[in-house]
Amino acid sequence: MTQGELHSQYDLGLLALAALNVGVIVLDQDERVRLWNSWIEAHSGVTADAARGRPLLELFPQLAGGYFHETVRAALHQGHPAVLSQSLHDAPLPLFTIPLSAAASLLQHVHVIPLAGPSGRHCLIQVNDASAAHKRESMLKRKARLLQESLELQRTLTEELERSHINLEALVQARTAELEELAGHLQDLSEREKADLARELHDELGALLTAIRIDISWLQRTISEWPATAGTKLQRIQDNLDQGIQLKRRIMEGMRPTLLSNFGLVVTLQELVRERAALNQWELALDLPPEDLTLGEDLSITLFRITQEALTNASKYAQASRVMVRLAVDEANIVLTVEDDGIGMPAGTVQPPYRHGIIGMRHRVLARKGQFAIEPVAPHGTRVTVLIPRAG
Ligand SMILES: Nc1ncnc2c1ncn2[C@@H]1O[C@H](COP(=O)(O)OP(=O)(O)O)[C@@H](O)[C@H]1O
Ligand SMILES: [Mg+2]
Repeated sequence: MTQGELHSQYDLGLLALAALNVGVIVLDQDERVRLWNSWIEAHSGVTADAARGRPLLELFPQLAGGYFHETVRAALHQGHPAVLSQSLHDAPLPLFTIPLSAAASLLQHVHVIPLAGPSGRHCLIQVNDASAAHKRESMLKRKARLLQESLELQRTLTEELERSHINLEALVQARTAELEELAGHLQDLSEREKADLARELHDELGALLTAIRIDISWLQRTISEWPATAGTKLQRIQDNLDQGIQLKRRIMEGMRPTLLSNFGLVVTLQELVRERAALNQWELALDLPPEDLTLGEDLSITLFRITQEALTNASKYAQASRVMVRLAVDEANIVLTVEDDGIGMPAGTVQPPYRHGIIGMRHRVLARKGQFAIEPVAPHGTRVTVLIPRAG
């Protein structure tokens, strides 16, 4: 390299140093300033001419004994480089933002780099403006905090939701149990009222009708003393009375089958099923326990009503040709099955919600802590199965 070339290299170096958007200070072994670029001039308010040759601590006395001074000494005497990042040391040097008139302390990122020069050890101090990085960092911190907060909020909400879900489920369960109990109670009540009414019909109305019957008999015996037309009238009264008595018996049977009270469940079921089979021309398969089976009255009426409803459904909807009714009893349980070979339930009715007939059967069973099922049978038809614990 020629002398001229060397000079132009040197000039270019100086130009570059002046144009750098980074602060550059070079100190010699005695901590005297050897280089002070324009960026440092602008941010310190100290010109290069004023700084050159003077010890750093004279320019910045506030650095004496501080961490930054330690770092510089370590670089000069032990050759240790160091980085002072803005997140730990926000402003190691007393530098300011521009314009200096409204200056605030400048956030810095500082490298302290030992230089092994021909005339002994030097130290290069490189200063970067860290305010952009700082802004970015604080923005990130804010975002992280917001994220954290929203995560916490989400967690709280999820917990809250889970809690209310559990509460809701418990509430629904409690309400369902209450409603089931109420339905069972109402069914029992209705059965009891029907039984009372049936008894009253039998006792009061029955006595009345019998009294009328006796009087009519008397009239018939003494009819010869009456005009001829009276005979026809009397016959009509007699016919109407017989119809009334039959009506009373039918109503009573509907409310409380006298068979059930007098002969028990098995005989009553036998009668019921045979009567319905004859009416609907069903082929019948009947499988019942011995007639002397004794069950509580409430349990008997429950099983009777369920059989009644299942047979009513079979005759109304099934178009069956064969019906099977089975009552199986062991120590613990009673199992009632009513099965037809009809067309089966229309799609959609096999699953809840059912209509009132099926709901009524289910409630009667659940009220006795039993199990109820209505399901299709192969190849076609419907089966109602009821299991009720005997000690219910
Ligand atoms: N044995 C059966 N065969 C065919 N369909 C049935 C049978 N039992 C019940 N169903 C169907 O289920 C529906 C609901 O029955 P149910 O709850 O007793 O109400 P309802 O008799 O008042 O219609 C009936 O309308 C009918 O369509
Ligand atoms: Mg029905």
